[in-house]
Amino acid sequence: MGFPIERPRRLRRTPALRRLVAETRLHPSGLVLPMFLREGLEAPSPISSLPGVVHHSRASLRAAAAEAVSLGLGGVMLFAVPATRDAVGSGATDPDGILNIAVAEVRDEVGEDLVVMADLCLDEFTDHGHCGVLRADGDVDNDATLERYADMGAALAQAGVDVVGTSGMMDGQVGVVRMALDAAGAEHVAVLAYAAKYASALYGPFREAVDSQLTGNRHGYQQDPANRRESLREVRLDIDEGADIVMVKPASLYLDVLREVADVVDVPVAAYQVSGEYAMVEAAAARGWIDRERAVLESITSIHRAGADIVLTYWAAEVARWISEGKA
Ligand code: PBG
Repeated sequence: MGFPIERPRRLRRTPALRRLVAETRLHPSGLVLPMFLREGLEAPSPISSLPGVVHHSRASLRAAAAEAVSLGLGGVMLFAVPATRDAVGSGATDPDGILNIAVAEVRDEVGEDLVVMADLCLDEFTDHGHCGVLRADGDVDNDATLERYADMGAALAQAGVDVVGTSGMMDGQVGVVRMALDAAGAEHVAVLAYAAKYASALYGPFREAVDSQLTGNRHGYQQDPANRRESLREVRLDIDEGADIVMVKPASLYLDVLREVADVVDVPVAAYQVSGEYAMVEAAAARGWIDRERAVLESITSIHRAGADIVLTYWAAEVARWISEGKA
């Protein structure tokens, strides 16, 4: 042989060695749990497309937020399902609207022990299900929508939010929301920009979860999965407009985009492991076709490895429990 063989396997020999040389480590503080509050519920109720995820009542949302604190999660991302909707999504800017109630109650429950985030988008509140208000021809009116986002940002700030997640993919939304927050005396509220958000089939289960009224599609504002460079442009624009954190969404099918974004920005990078990513693993695991726990951990580890500092995932609480039990 004449030469010493390089033996990478030496460092894979025992669990202790593998743990020592792991390049990526899961920690509860890097995980954010998305949660849904449904108006009018007396008790939590399951979401069929997202087994294990529930529509919360006001009381169960508080309890889940308290649990998120005890698990050491990085934060929660709040969504709400209102009882009534209209063309401009009035519920989003009503101080007594269900999302603003969710934010206020979770804030009251957790104090400063948990980062409280909320979705800043109109789709849950509009009777047509689009992320903005519509023009007479049925297209989304970008700039009229920005005015609604500005008011929604101010309302969420008033309710006590720490971070708003601008998820509507309207041009200029981060800048407009930033200005509205500052004008409302909420300079401290951070903007998590859904910077690179693709028009993905993987949002299907979420749309059921929020009882989406959408009949068409979002291809006119969300990005084409074929594009990579466009994401770098979206990220640049959002950072220029004042984004504090940038996000790539979905996560698993866009790890290449995530890596490129992480390589060029100097703000924290998040990724959203969306409902379809969750549902695919759950469905395969339910049939015994995949090892659920390993698939969950591998998927979240991959997202971190690709460059995400923060992962939004419906498994956040469960994974945090596994970590505390030494299973992850
Ligand atoms: C928009 C929003 C969506 C998701 C998060 N924020 C739906 C959409 O863009 O159609 C999807 C999240 C998921 O699929 O888990 N308010």
